[in-house]
Amino acid sequence: MARLDTSRGFARGAQSAVYRAGIAGVRPAVPTTSAGLEAAARRRLGSEAYAYLAGGAGSEHTMAANVDAFGRWQVIPRVLRDVADRDLSIELLGRRRSSPLLLSPLGVMELAHPQSELAVARAAAALDVPYILSNQASRPMEEVTAEMGERARWFQLYWSSSDELNRSLIRRAEACGCEAIVITLDTHLLGWRTRDLDLAFLPFTHGQGIAQYTSDPVFAELVRDRVRRGTTGTSAPPVRVNAKSVAAAMGIARAGAGTELVRGGFADAMRSPLPRAAVETFLDVFSDPSLTWDRIAKVHEWTDLPVLLKGVLHPDDAERAIDAGMAGIVVSNHGGRQVDRSVPTIEALPEVAERAAGRVPVILDSGVRGGADVAIALSLGATAVGLGRPYAYGLAIAGATGVSEVIRNVIAEFDLTLGLSGHTSPGELGPHALRRAG
Ligand code: FNR
Repeated sequence: MARLDTSRGFARGAQSAVYRAGIAGVRPAVPTTSAGLEAAARRRLGSEAYAYLAGGAGSEHTMAANVDAFGRWQVIPRVLRDVADRDLSIELLGRRRSSPLLLSPLGVMELAHPQSELAVARAAAALDVPYILSNQASRPMEEVTAEMGERARWFQLYWSSSDELNRSLIRRAEACGCEAIVITLDTHLLGWRTRDLDLAFLPFTHGQGIAQYTSDPVFAELVRDRVRRGTTGTSAPPVRVNAKSVAAAMGIARAGAGTELVRGGFADAMRSPLPRAAVETFLDVFSDPSLTWDRIAKVHEWTDLPVLLKGVLHPDDAERAIDAGMAGIVVSNHGGRQVDRSVPTIEALPEVAERAAGRVPVILDSGVRGGADVAIALSLGATAVGLGRPYAYGLAIAGATGVSEVIRNVIAEFDLTLGLSGHTSPGELGPHALRRAG
């Protein structure tokens, strides 16, 4: 995959590639519509994996509202303005980026594809789209960043109850060349995820999505300590032994093998209590609901990297973040996975952007499904936009190629929306480009 030139006629290149292949009867493996993408991914995924990727909190009103709220805005096409040369690049955290798109952090990508985050990283690097690596990834950040060369990556942190662990993860992110730290604040309690509850499935309890932890020396010490204290399990009733629980135990051993926990292979991990203890330790430490503004300020003692806060929806919180020296805000409701009946992000954006008043970048995610959504978000004050579920679906359908097609399609549609609304760069967009739907 060559780097795509996102300046000048990006969309035409993308369209031309598709239509030329069509001459030989070849159609894209990855559907271009959001609904088609999700349906194709669903056909390839098991029910638990699909539920985890696609599901939201409660009755999934927020998830629907995120998408519907974009429909309350309409782009006003303009004509005869010479839009032949377009430049999609933006300035973000002091660097030029070739498009206003980022990949939002999505955990547990092994649910979508065995190549998990490695494949996502390859696609992000090829298309020069910054990739925000998840704290809940299926592969350690060192392996993922090795796929990216010099291409931009950030690290997303879930503030755990161990400061030593938080520091260690940030230190590793710095060593991996991450350009920024994104602290996700909306998951200090796990949302009421109805699809997962109905299937009684949480990937972490199967040892999935905890690779940043099992590869961490501080976490490994917490686990050893737990085993030394003889508190390997929980006080919960024992798990029934059947084919599924044996498979889960093997999955947990696999996750622990060859890590900071068990240097040896799978057989050693099967014999060791450490992988099981790692899952329990993770469940204990992964979030800290008592976190406050005072304590989060500590992050500036740990790193000089720019720190952004993800999950901000209220302008007062945005103000507080800026006062606390944060370098940016991510307006996100976690794709509707946390609070049902939450405000949709595109509705929250204008007030947050107004309060930020250009002092820090404002990034929006949750509900972005195509290039027109990107144009609407930028018009309403976003500096950049995070893509979420669509790239996971692309990954499920066709691995790294699937992710890169999804990214290409979103950027191509954005390029066309920009040009067809009479603009030649993201900076020209603003409220004048839109009207509120009647
Ligand atoms: C997420 N999201 C997320 N956010 C985060 O900060 N760390 C994480 O590990 C994850 N993991 C994760 C997994 C899955 C399967 C999903 C769907 C989402 C939230 C993510 O970054 C982003 O906010 C949402 O995906 C945006 O919503 P849409 O556009 O994907 O619906």
